[in-house]
Amino acid sequence: MIYPRIIAHRCGGALTPENTLAGLRLAKRLGCRGVEFDAMLAADGVPVLIHDETLQRTTSGQGRVADMSSAQLGGLDAGGRHHPAFAVEPLPTLDEALRLCAELGLWANVEIKPSAGQEAETGRVVARHAAAAKGKLLLSSFSASALRAAADEAVRLPRAILVEAIPADWRERISAAEAFAVHCSARALAAEALAAVSDAGLPLACYTVNRREDAERLFAMGVSAIFTDRPDLWSAKEM
Ligand code: G3P
Ligand code: MG
Repeated sequence: MIYPRIIAHRCGGALTPENTLAGLRLAKRLGCRGVEFDAMLAADGVPVLIHDETLQRTTSGQGRVADMSSAQLGGLDAGGRHHPAFAVEPLPTLDEALRLCAELGLWANVEIKPSAGQEAETGRVVARHAAAAKGKLLLSSFSASALRAAADEAVRLPRAILVEAIPADWRERISAAEAFAVHCSARALAAEALAAVSDAGLPLACYTVNRREDAERLFAMGVSAIFTDRPDLWSAKEM
């Protein structure tokens, strides 16, 4: 799979409320080819787009995502906390986001973001929904059991391991998840680890890079793609 160079982090980056359809639409208008977003299970097992296990930071709700049904979550405002101009922006389901990505022609990295204790179930369900979607998709997760469950559910969907620093056992993690790529923190990237991953012929993508000069340095080192909150810093041609 060829990565877009610039991937809008949490849908549209910092310019829109994170993990929303408004974000996807803006990413498209900016000329992005790829987006990343986080998928977690509601209490009724429906995957929705949200980063935190709790609702306070990004929505009008309170409490835990895993305790609310998808219908309850769908009634929350996921935009007004970012800026009142984005009220009322719904908290989308994964299916809604995947449909819009397919319609807009956006490549999507679905990050499986399980609530504690729901790792394997979240991996399974997110993979099932992703496998039923159209468009170019890639799954990733910090959770090894979520990725393994995703592989068991839909082995043909490409997967990337997601880590902070590249660990010494990255090869074992790649093979346990039957993954083909590494996503790691730009801040924790060591040149030797990058060289080892590149020598193995695997793409490496770095989060979260919000300055052009940092991105240029990473691309010069051999990084394939970056996740950014500031996709507006690049022209459509550069993405
Ligand atoms: O998938 C890359 C990046 O999104 C991982 O960090 O916390 O923003 O989901 P986070
Ligand atoms: Mg993420």
